[in-house]
Amino acid sequence: MEKMMGERRSKAVFLKAYPAGMPAESDFVESDFEVSAPGPGEMLCRTVWMSVDPYMRGRMRPDVKSYIPPFSLDRPLEGGAVSEVVESNIDGFAPGDYVVDFLGGWKEYYVSKGERTQKVDPGMAPLSAYLGVLGMPGLTAWSGVTQILKPKEGETMFVSGAAGAVGSVVCQLGKAKGCRVIASAGSKEKCDWLEKVAGVDVALNYKDYKNAAELTKALAEAAPKGVDCYFENVGGMHLEAALNCIALGGRMAWCGMIAQYNNKEAEPGPPNLINVVGRGVMIRGFIVSEYMDKVMEFAMEVAPLLAQGKIKFQESVYEGLGKAPEAFIGLFKGENFGKAVVRVGPDRI
Ligand SMILES: NC(=O)c1ccc[n+]([C@@H]2O[C@H](COP(=O)([O-])OP(=O)(O)OC[C@H]3O[C@@H](n4cnc5c(N)ncnc54)[C@H](OP(=O)(O)O)[C@@H]3O)[C@@H](O)[C@H]2O)c1
Repeated sequence: MEKMMGERRSKAVFLKAYPAGMPAESDFVESDFEVSAPGPGEMLCRTVWMSVDPYMRGRMRPDVKSYIPPFSLDRPLEGGAVSEVVESNIDGFAPGDYVVDFLGGWKEYYVSKGERTQKVDPGMAPLSAYLGVLGMPGLTAWSGVTQILKPKEGETMFVSGAAGAVGSVVCQLGKAKGCRVIASAGSKEKCDWLEKVAGVDVALNYKDYKNAAELTKALAEAAPKGVDCYFENVGGMHLEAALNCIALGGRMAWCGMIAQYNNKEAEPGPPNLINVVGRGVMIRGFIVSEYMDKVMEFAMEVAPLLAQGKIKFQESVYEGLGKAPEAFIGLFKGENFGKAVVRVGPDRI
């Protein structure tokens, strides 16, 4: 464990400019910033793993009002991280502890007040899993499934973005609850993993379908009784196909619409929204922070499934802080498989 007194400089990634359309590596710059010694009620942390997540793209649009403020161009970027406590003036946090928080991403060192910070147990799972299946994406998946979709045994569930951090957990929770699960992802390799490892009933490679009509046909064949539960991660033709195939009394959990995050113009809504009326569909959008008070319930359900090997997960690991922009941009190009994480430093120094 590292001992460090006084001030120091830390490497960090900053936004050079707000991206227009698809982000480029030239929108980011690595620089350093001063990290002060932790004062009373503060601790110094060293980032070990950082997360890249699609929601960060929304924080790169200063003109759009959102549930979370935009990133500043003058400060290091921030985001989910697993970090080691180096020095602590906060009761309950000691040097050598590992913590997960929403500050430590995109930098090597930082001072934290311990807000929205949880200690994590390195003995229970690999540290990076606290950014994926046991972290924010896992809680998102669990919340959408158990608090919104509430699937019943024998029902059919459709999941878009199914090989990603959220979608892969949704699929496996759907199977654990006795559903027929239809998954959609963007490559043969991802679809093979979904069927052979995650255990979904049918995985559709959406890149094989030119438009919503073609995807609808494939989905209708895979879900002959209709889709009872749709977990929405993508939008666009996935939503249109889901609306075409939704069963009477179907439910939709709208988690995200990644297909439109880099659009320069607003996208028109699907032309078949009227199906919501005739089929009595319930649509509920959500942000994971709404369910933070359920985190123990989530851990009690998902951690044992993980320990028993009933939930499998996949990671795309990028080595070094300098790879963070590439890892982030890869989210919008389907280059990650499962959770994308960046190893910023070794577990221990
Ligand atoms: N509401 C919340 O609180 C909350 C929390 C976490 C995440 N989310 C949302 O959940 C969704 C999934 O997040 P995640 O963390 O699990 O990301 P992820 O799946 O790990 O990464 C993004 C994946 O989305 C797919 N994708 C990218 N562009 C696409 C496009 N144009 N059309 C279809 N698929 C596309 C890619 O996979 P393919 O190879 O399959 O294309 C890519 O790998 C996102 O919409 C995100 O914003 C919401």
